[in-house]
Amino acid sequence: MLYTDKTIADNIYYVGVNDRQKHLFENYLPLPNGVSYNSYLIVDEKVALVDTVDVAFADVFFKQIDAILGDRPIDYLIVDHMEPDHAGSIGLLRTRYPNVQIVGNKKTFDYLKGYFCIDSNLLEVAEGDALSLGKTNLQFYFAPMVHWPEVMVTYDPDRQILFSADAFGTFGALNGSFRDDELNLEPFWDDMRRYYACIVGKFGNPVQTALKKLSGLPIKIICSTHGPVWQSQIAKVVGLYDQWSKYETEPGVVIAYGSMYGNTKQMAEAVAQGVVDGGIHRVVVHDVSKSDPSYILADIFKYKGLIIGSPTYMMGLYPLIDSLLHKIEERCIKNHVYSCFGSFTWAGAACKKLTDFAGTMNWPLVGTPVENKQGACTDVLQRCYELGKQMSAEILK
Ligand SMILES: Cc1cc2nc3c(=O)[nH]c(=O)nc-3n(C[C@H](O)[C@H](O)[C@H](O)COP(=O)(O)O)c2cc1C
Ligand SMILES: [Fe+2]
Ligand SMILES: [Fe+2]
Repeated sequence: MLYTDKTIADNIYYVGVNDRQKHLFENYLPLPNGVSYNSYLIVDEKVALVDTVDVAFADVFFKQIDAILGDRPIDYLIVDHMEPDHAGSIGLLRTRYPNVQIVGNKKTFDYLKGYFCIDSNLLEVAEGDALSLGKTNLQFYFAPMVHWPEVMVTYDPDRQILFSADAFGTFGALNGSFRDDELNLEPFWDDMRRYYACIVGKFGNPVQTALKKLSGLPIKIICSTHGPVWQSQIAKVVGLYDQWSKYETEPGVVIAYGSMYGNTKQMAEAVAQGVVDGGIHRVVVHDVSKSDPSYILADIFKYKGLIIGSPTYMMGLYPLIDSLLHKIEERCIKNHVYSCFGSFTWAGAACKKLTDFAGTMNWPLVGTPVENKQGACTDVLQRCYELGKQMSAEILK
């Protein structure tokens, strides 16, 4: 059946779209599996739309709404999140439905005015406020910084449906269905962690606050703005968000290195062998010049151990390693054990900077960082191997 015939619950329709064209989300995060922008239409005595879609897909979006509503107008647009991947079609929506009342909070309306010059026919809601559409009652709860300050979630207490904005969202277009029990979910779990690590990962504390607030609400269906509508996997997705926002990890080690001519790479290989011989078999080795940082971050969010290696470059760190450290630091990633290695030819700087990073992140430094001058020799590689073993021992203890 087409989506227009498929309801999430009585009179609630999925009217989102798949984006299979965009290469980079926010123009920097790869989308090998695409992404969906989800929007939901509630048709009762009053009609309400929950969020819109990226404006590039407005045409298809409005066609889907027309197929359901015909000439009937939309009474309310509920804006849970103002980021343009969801708010992008608000201007066009107002042009099509001039009488639509826009539901949001004070911050929503500040952004609405700034982005769309819209400041009339607004319905401002406060924490816990309710809106009746007839049989359907909706409540609004604020979830600031999940993922912008104005974010709120919309809850249907009778049917226990949560419209959760970006929370519980994931990259990945929806192949043939929006329902989690009809989709092959396998590719979504890694994409969901990568989405979390890159987009929400800085906001662990606000996510914890939101989860505590929502823990009092019984939830049967989660309608996020990206990815599957969750119904059969509620406990799993809520559990994953709880785990990631507490920066809880699994036993395993990420080794991320930069290398121009292969010497630092040889060190990384020796470290990896040490980790495996030390008993940890879940090891991911990333060459920062090849792996997109979003995948490295997703693995760092997964595994407890992190070992970073860099050549000295212009008296500092290799640029892509410098950039990776910045991404880790801005996400305030906790609960890791860490070590490092570095190389140089005339005056080493990388290993010292990487060692100092343990202090920056307040992570315990495992073993003794290994520094190599010029060609990687057996003695240095042996110390790298031992460092890997020490990391495994630390994680297993
Ligand atoms: C562009 C460039 C800049 C470098 N800057 C420094 C430096 O400031 N200090 C230093 O001791 N070595 C410097 N080096 C040397 C490298 O750190 C050294 O050769 C290292 O072993 C390279 O590791 P790799 O084989 O993994 O690429 C530089 C090398 C290049 C290519
Ligand atoms: Fe967002
Ligand atoms: Fe989003």
